[in-house]
Amino acid sequence: MKVGVLTSGGDSPGMNACLRAIVRVGISRGLSIFGMHGGLQGLLDRSIFELTARDVSNIVHRGGTFLTTGRSAEFRTEEGQKKAARILTDEEFDGLLALGGNGTMQAMTKLCKLWDGLIIGLPGTIDNDIQGTDYTIGFDTAVNNAVNAIDKIRDTAQAFDRTFLIEVMGRDSGHIAVHVGISCGAEAIAVPETPTDLNEIATIIKEGRARGKTFAFIIVAEGDEEGDARTIAKKLSDATGENCRVSVLGYIQRGGNPTQFDRILGTKLGAYAVECLKKGISGVMVGEMGGELVLTQFEDTWSSQKGLDLWLLGLVDELSI
Ligand code: F6P
Repeated sequence: MKVGVLTSGGDSPGMNACLRAIVRVGISRGLSIFGMHGGLQGLLDRSIFELTARDVSNIVHRGGTFLTTGRSAEFRTEEGQKKAARILTDEEFDGLLALGGNGTMQAMTKLCKLWDGLIIGLPGTIDNDIQGTDYTIGFDTAVNNAVNAIDKIRDTAQAFDRTFLIEVMGRDSGHIAVHVGISCGAEAIAVPETPTDLNEIATIIKEGRARGKTFAFIIVAEGDEEGDARTIAKKLSDATGENCRVSVLGYIQRGGNPTQFDRILGTKLGAYAVECLKKGISGVMVGEMGGELVLTQFEDTWSSQKGLDLWLLGLVDELSI
């Protein structure tokens, strides 16, 4: 079997561990694995090369993706999708493994309709916004990166008695914000999935001060409907009379060595995807739910929004009394 593998969309820590498992388990089980450079654009540009077991040496602990990634404008067009299918046929591929986020699963949904080879998706994104897996590869590392950064900002918050607004990534979802907020003892967490009431947050800050709190953290998901952390900080500063400070964590969340959780998740899902391909399975994403390895039809991974842990989010008020 000739199998292509690519990483697409935002890189996420643990992608390399996953690629290593795909290449080594694939080769062990008799597959020929070919990497595509730069995501879907690499397929369209025929930037394709065979991978050996040695090509994935010394990467299990590295962030990013050694294959490099991208967001291909060409693949978004119908022409581009047809061209990708043609190239896969011309190059005599039997299967394709695509590691990426929401956009990658949408792309694979389209490609499945145009190419009759086997296609399996693997969830790699820090956002954790894909249905069909409890956690995506990279989410745990991103949360840990943000928590470590905030533990440092805490020193200044405490030393100056300040209120800090910390903006975290997540695109349209608040999974990172909720995990980071609860782990850092935030006073409030603003996420796109639930209405954000700035008057209420101002009251939380003021009442906290009245109860003897000397500093506060408000975590803002980048997709919050009230705007970014700077916009919200300005409004909260006006409402509280404090000069609220802002820190946008940005890409620092997406980089660095993956946690052991992401290495294991990447390894398990990579190996499982190879096993599924060998069985002739196609049109699905591999994932882990409740400790079990599971398969979800491509369309079901993105057609509805993955629910946030509202119970955990709801604890924030009591946890910050
Ligand atoms: O999807 C991962 C992510 O880091 C989001 O959290 C963020 O909104 C987006 O990618 C940033 O995309 P780019 O790398 O294209 O700036």
